[in-house]
Amino acid sequence: MRDGSNGWKAGDDLLKLSAVSSGYGAVTIVKDISLTIKRGEIFAVMGKNGMGKTTLLKTILGFIELKAGDVTLEGASLRGVAPAKLIASGVAYAPQDQPLFQDLSIRDNIRLALRSDREFKNASERAFSYFPFLRDRLGQKAGTLSGGEQKMLTLARSLMHQPKMLLVDEVSEGLQPSVVDRIAAALKNERDANGVTILMVEQNLDFALRVADRWAILKLGAIDDQGGMESNTRERVLEHLKI
Ligand SMILES: Nc1ncnc2c1ncn2[C@@H]1O[C@H](COP(=O)(O)OP(=O)(O)O)[C@@H](O)[C@H]1O
Ligand SMILES: [Mg+2]
Repeated sequence: MRDGSNGWKAGDDLLKLSAVSSGYGAVTIVKDISLTIKRGEIFAVMGKNGMGKTTLLKTILGFIELKAGDVTLEGASLRGVAPAKLIASGVAYAPQDQPLFQDLSIRDNIRLALRSDREFKNASERAFSYFPFLRDRLGQKAGTLSGGEQKMLTLARSLMHQPKMLLVDEVSEGLQPSVVDRIAAALKNERDANGVTILMVEQNLDFALRVADRWAILKLGAIDDQGGMESNTRERVLEHLKI
């Protein structure tokens, strides 16, 4: 893997899942998943609805308890680490469902992700460079934004703390192609220029394969197949995602 601009180095293991199982109550959803994501890599986990993609991300973040296995970040176990602490240490999360305060303005939704108002200008600049409409409409209530605009605000907010790693849950869901293109460019630039390691879960295969370096397919909570980018990758992935 190549190194990027701004002096970041690719290569060492950043996030490691070892035989991870998790679920809700007595029900196991994520089954025995082992994955290693290297610093500076974009990794896409694909799978149909209900296969456990969101559960996997929430398990990594510590919102859902491990039933078995371990998750490490830079070699240190995340067992017992509170989600807020993990996020403060540089792991950003763009959730799938209703992550914004609908009655609050764009500005206030962003402020809530920051420790103090003084950070606003510096923190928002990078994200606004991808999605300039946010800067022009800071006073608009999040609930009055279109679905695509809300996704862009969610992603922008997750980038505010200049994370080392970004977990993104179905950011392309329901978006028109031009918005998907802008989000793809933002994610690629975060990695290429700033070395942000990205774990994305997606149902949109074309978007995922356009952005990612490596991929895995999740089926009923387990990894069904995985690989890098080769000439037959699209067909191979498509085969798994067929009904
Ligand atoms: N809070 C919950 N309580 C119980 N079961 C859940 C909960 N959230 C999700 N599930 C179940 O876990 C499975 C995987 O869901 P999810 O991780 O959301 O899948 P995906 O993100 O791939 O669509 C589904 O069968 C879903 O019904
Ligand atoms: Mg989901």
